[in-house]
Amino acid sequence: MANCLGTAKGADKIFGQVYGLSTLDTICDHGKGVYLFDKEGKKYIDFSSGPSVVCIGHGDQRVIQAMVEQMKKVSYFHRGSWLNERAGELAERLIKVAPRNMKWCHFTCSGSEANETAIKLAHQYHLEKGDPEKYMIIGRWQSWHGNTLGSLSASGMTSRRRKFGPLVFQWPKIEAPLCYHCLLSISEMGHFLNRTLWHDQAALTSSLRP
Ligand SMILES: Cc1ncc(COP(=O)(O)O)c(C=O)c1O
Repeated sequence: MANCLGTAKGADKIFGQVYGLSTLDTICDHGKGVYLFDKEGKKYIDFSSGPSVVCIGHGDQRVIQAMVEQMKKVSYFHRGSWLNERAGELAERLIKVAPRNMKWCHFTCSGSEANETAIKLAHQYHLEKGDPEKYMIIGRWQSWHGNTLGSLSASGMTSRRRKFGPLVFQWPKIEAPLCYHCLLSISEMGHFLNRTLWHDQAALTSSLRP
């Protein structure tokens, strides 16, 4: 692939932008549907879907229109000061398709922030129930929950946690419940959790995989 770096002004001034690629030569020019295009017009299927979870596709006119309309109205305000009609509408739509006992939405700007919030919410729940000692989050080996320190603490990716040992919480990690090819040869989820949580003490006391 040709090196397009020279064509993107300031690209070499951006720190840590494209991880996972060995060279910084893939400049995205635009996207359409499931495709991304580089500066030379070469087409790629966007298997990355953002960080694997954004599946609205590129260039959907309905999304663009809604964003433009909203930005024309107001650029930014903090959710602690004002309410937003569109956010309320979105919350109602989400609750309609969510499990029945879900009654509220909390919007965040990233997966990491969502996980940080979930961790704090779980802790607050136990605090208010009078169980302040219940503060640990059990993660799964190989799981990824984000770059922020709380989310990284819950993440089971040793390669991404290793350098941050003193900064992250040493929360326990267990195997993923992969019933189809279970590492522990256990076919039922209940048995799996029982065995992993109560009998795999090594996993519960170590947060860095050897
Ligand atoms: C399950 C999960 N949680 C959290 C994250 C982190 O999200 P973000 O990069 O938006 O902070 C990701 C994606 O990287 C994810 O797949």
